[in-house]
Amino acid sequence: MTEKQSYSVARKSFFALFWTSTMLFVLSWLYVSTDRPRSFGRKSLPILNLPNVFRSSNGLSRTILASNEMKRDGEGREEEERPKREQGFQDKDGANAMTCNGIVKEPLKIFMYDLDPEFHFGLLNWKPRGGRVWPDVRTEIPPYPGGLNLQHSIEYWLTLDLLASEISDNPNNRVVIRVQNSSEADLIFVPFFSSLSYNRFSKVRRHQKRSRNKVLQAKLVNFVTAQKEWKMSGGRDHIILAHHPNSMLYARMQLWPAVFVLADFGRYPFYIANVDKDVIAPYRHMVRNYVNDSSDFDSRQTLLFFQGSIYRKDGGYARQELFYLLKDEKDVHFSFGSLKKDGVNKASRGMHSSKFCLNIAGDTPSSNRLFDAIASHCVPVIISDDIELPYEDVLDYSEFCVFVRTSDAIKEKFLINLIRSISKKEWSRMWEKLKEVEPLFEYQYPAKDGNAVQMVWKSLARKVPGIKMKINKYRRFSNTVVHQKHGGLRSIPAPNKFW
Ligand SMILES: *[C@@H]1O[C@H](CO)[C@@H](O)[C@H](O)[C@H]1NC(C)=O
Ligand SMILES: *[C@@H]1O[C@H](CO)[C@@H](O)[C@H](O)[C@H]1NC(C)=O
Repeated sequence: MTEKQSYSVARKSFFALFWTSTMLFVLSWLYVSTDRPRSFGRKSLPILNLPNVFRSSNGLSRTILASNEMKRDGEGREEEERPKREQGFQDKDGANAMTCNGIVKEPLKIFMYDLDPEFHFGLLNWKPRGGRVWPDVRTEIPPYPGGLNLQHSIEYWLTLDLLASEISDNPNNRVVIRVQNSSEADLIFVPFFSSLSYNRFSKVRRHQKRSRNKVLQAKLVNFVTAQKEWKMSGGRDHIILAHHPNSMLYARMQLWPAVFVLADFGRYPFYIANVDKDVIAPYRHMVRNYVNDSSDFDSRQTLLFFQGSIYRKDGGYARQELFYLLKDEKDVHFSFGSLKKDGVNKASRGMHSSKFCLNIAGDTPSSNRLFDAIASHCVPVIISDDIELPYEDVLDYSEFCVFVRTSDAIKEKFLINLIRSISKKEWSRMWEKLKEVEPLFEYQYPAKDGNAVQMVWKSLARKVPGIKMKINKYRRFSNTVVHQKHGGLRSIPAPNKFW
């Protein structure tokens, strides 16, 4: 009996112990897991890792990610909270600018090859006199042709700015200076006006075997790769301008170790050009600037404006889809054709009186329409999944552009409902920002503070540390001489094709 009693007491206390520990276990598991699913949930939303403001997969509603939502990360890490100013385009602490404590950093030092004028100003019919290579920019600035050529004129503005640096009163206030001794230079500039060469001389004339554009590229490759500067770095510190997507078609395959200045990567294999190695520069816009823009949300009567051709080759299928989705919406305006003759004036008027301007991927991911929209303060709606944007390492485009994935944009009513749902207040904020960033996309001579010319130089300056590392790695083996079994001497060639 007593044995049985003590047995049942033991059994009861055993069960009590069992239940208590089970409850404790369940409670602690619940406690831990209430945290878990949330963090997993966050992590599984790839949306949160992307900077674009307008993202939605749940039909028509638009998700605006509040900044505090962005801050929370999967593993509960708090991203560093940075003041808004720093995230904006003011890269006051960027390379070659004023630092926080007011010390002026050195300007970017560029060595420029004295190429024969046939590669640069000669293409603009400039006639060198007395064996000169460069125009004297104090007295003559060879004019650049107007029209569509201007879209890709960055080669002209950068070269002029380098020449101007030599006559500057205050070279240390400059973003860039030309140096005559290449061993003092950060980067080596190859002044070939390749877009102009493509635009003007890519046709094979009757008495020619090859076009002048092709001949110039072949000559350029021979010249540049024979220089000691190229051999010392394998070309990694050379700047090659190829802004027109079809320019440098032949030379690009030989000059790929260099930094290319491009409009986009649409027609380049990844190992020839990519966003880590190269620099994206803006197109020069074609429409007029909207000087003294006193318009507002209500006075811009067209909701959405599109200028361009509807039927494009590869990559542009979305244009057609969107045209059929939008053509019957009453406040949407489609304007066909390219910007020739009166087209520019019409497009200017159209963009100046529209709230939003559509940018759809065409043959290439980029187009000058984005920069036309910025100059018109017409909020760009970008539908181009692979677009790369100028200075995006210092500029947050989501502050003044609306990004929509192509797969979303071609859903019935998605785009139009999204755009209609943007309030006057939100639109006005983006419009203010557009006016603020507009100067960053302007090309002028002489360069104004913070204009496109200076922004591109600064983008190049930010590449310098990475380039130095690549060159040092390249030199690990390039100077080594190995004794082979047969007693012969052999230099080890340059490393693999990914530098
Ligand atoms: C170029 O600069 C290097 C290093 O500063 C110097 O050793 C060399 O003598 C200079 N060359 C000329 C031609 O001035
Ligand atoms: C813009 O405004 C300024 C100052 O009010 C004026 O001097 C200038 O002529 C205006 N420009 C245009 C194009 O209206």
